[in-house]
Amino acid sequence: MANYRVGLGVSGGIAAYKAVEVMRALQKAGCDVSVAMTRHATEFVQPLTFRALTDKHVIVDDYDPENPDPIAHVNFSQQIDLLLVVPATANIIGKFANGVADDFLSSTYLATTAPVLVAPAMNTTMWEQPATQRNIARLKADGVKFVEPISGELACKTVGTGKLEDVENIVAQALAVLGSSTRAEDLAGERFLITVGGTREAIDPVRFISNHSSGKMGFAMAAAASARGAKVTVVAGMTTAEAPANVEVVRAISAAEMHKAVMERLAGATVFVGAAAVADYAPANAADAKIKKDGRDTLTLELKKTPDILGEVSASRPDGMIVVGFAAETNDVIDFARAKLEKKKLDIVVANDVSKAGAGFNTDTNIISVLTDTKTENFPLMSKREAADRVCDAIKAEREARNGK
Ligand code: PMT
Repeated sequence: MANYRVGLGVSGGIAAYKAVEVMRALQKAGCDVSVAMTRHATEFVQPLTFRALTDKHVIVDDYDPENPDPIAHVNFSQQIDLLLVVPATANIIGKFANGVADDFLSSTYLATTAPVLVAPAMNTTMWEQPATQRNIARLKADGVKFVEPISGELACKTVGTGKLEDVENIVAQALAVLGSSTRAEDLAGERFLITVGGTREAIDPVRFISNHSSGKMGFAMAAAASARGAKVTVVAGMTTAEAPANVEVVRAISAAEMHKAVMERLAGATVFVGAAAVADYAPANAADAKIKKDGRDTLTLELKKTPDILGEVSASRPDGMIVVGFAAETNDVIDFARAKLEKKKLDIVVANDVSKAGAGFNTDTNIISVLTDTKTENFPLMSKREAADRVCDAIKAEREARNGK
């Protein structure tokens, strides 16, 4: 293990003593660990314990005159390869999710660009609260990784989910994140053009045909590519998810508008990713005025095919462009995805079985298979941001293969 620098955040729960074991195991694995504690964490474990074992000042309050560094949250956060929070209380998760920076640990979270891994521990009712789950979903969408708590006997003498995961599993996951750290800007020099969200096809001025796409998957692709050094432009249809920072967002609501916006920007791109759920058909003649019922029991809409954006991009791609399509399927997923790869001459197809729980439309997670000419890689349920990183890995591998690396 290389000399990775881990910022270990400890928040105030009974499982805080386990953070000492996590720290020791990380040190044994060759990591350099620096510790930040919340004020409440110090009620459970003395900072002196961590100080003695790390030989470093343990920061609780950056305004403390004892603190040797006057802008500690910035320096601490910039000098770590991973921020690992053990245990994470509902309170610190809520602060991270909402951008609250009222103590050293929450300020460090806001100031770091390192990957963040959070190991929650709390009472089952607090864990299951919609507010806690909302905050976790928000953080997952922001790219934060979680070591999920396990079920067992809790400090409050109840049995349920909320127990801190075993130390060795936390450490294994921390080392895995460090090993596959996306901080290296391995997509620097690439210019991504990504379609995101669902399109909306007008029937008349008040009605439309659309689908359930939230934009979460496409925006996760944008966030992952941008974090890995690529310049990213997103052409977004209808989305409920928020676009990540540092990417250019162009709005294009219908398939025809999306097609135009993509074609206008194709020449400047080196990678195209079709993550949008583009309507295959749109009303042939959208009415200028609201369609009236006029006593009719049925109404027939004539639909016409929309432009095949992905197919056209693939056929007219600039030299060297890598073209990635998505396939949302409900059956024979791999067969249909591979047929798409071959028919549209794509480099990569990302198949998602949208019939599976936790996969596809409007979820924070996905279950993907990444197909290329030569292989099919199947991945388990993971956050859309992690899935996006797996797609970026495939894009990087394709570029390296072309460059003869
Ligand atoms: O946005 P989320 O809620 O996070 O949901 C994510 C997702 C399920 C929308 C995403 O993961 C996904 O699978 N996107 C593709 C959905 C889809 O429309 O699949 P398709 O099999 O119909 O289309 C295949 C490919 O052709 C896609 O890359 C699509 O963008 C592209 N296409 C389709 C039709 C069309 N007219 N033009 C296109 O470019």
